[in-house]
Amino acid sequence: MIAPSILSADFARLADEAAAVAGADWLHVDVMDAHFVPNLTIGLPVVKALRAATDIPLDCHLMIDDPDRWATGYAEAGAHNVTVHVEAAKDPVALAKDLRAAGARAGLSIKPGTPLEPHLDVLKHYDTLLVMSVEPGFGGQEFMVEVLDKVRTARRLVDTGHLKLVVEIDGGINADTIEQAAEAGVDCFVAGSAIYDAADPGAALERLREQAAR
Ligand code: DX5
Ligand code: ZN
Repeated sequence: MIAPSILSADFARLADEAAAVAGADWLHVDVMDAHFVPNLTIGLPVVKALRAATDIPLDCHLMIDDPDRWATGYAEAGAHNVTVHVEAAKDPVALAKDLRAAGARAGLSIKPGTPLEPHLDVLKHYDTLLVMSVEPGFGGQEFMVEVLDKVRTARRLVDTGHLKLVVEIDGGINADTIEQAAEAGVDCFVAGSAIYDAADPGAALERLREQAAR
């Protein structure tokens, strides 16, 4: 699956930018609060507006403090997948249940420096694992190849039936990096600058999809 990140799109033309990637599996929406990460983007009103403007399932990545308080609102707004950060969630198991009860898939994200092993029990309650391959906060950063060890571990646990997760990767995915991520076992690739900085975002998306399937 490919999930274009609208962080690199034109925020004044979001409906058109979604239409430009109509073949996308998920549309990745980066919500930042200038506390959990040193950047501020968009929130619930924009997600609600996008939900009405596109049929692409919305993949909301909440880089915010206190997701226990805010995340369920994104599920209620119609997001298909709502991902919170394990570093920010106070009660991630209860939060996953709330997200599912509100009709969304529950996603858990880990920053590049956060180990996977201490969170394996929590992950049993989640539908998506979002492995960050850059420090969250900004698009256009360089891919951190070392996080692929966590992808391999997650892949093994999914393939042996210990976890049931979509393994998603976010940060620095482009034509040069997507094949190694695919080889490590990623199911869903977020790509912002590699898609929206291209002259034809739809074509860039399909090229990435072909490369990931190689
Ligand atoms: C970064 C965001 C990413 C970002 C990826 O904190 O979570 O989703 O849009 O951008 P690229 O693909 O340009 O690294
Ligand atoms: Zn993201």
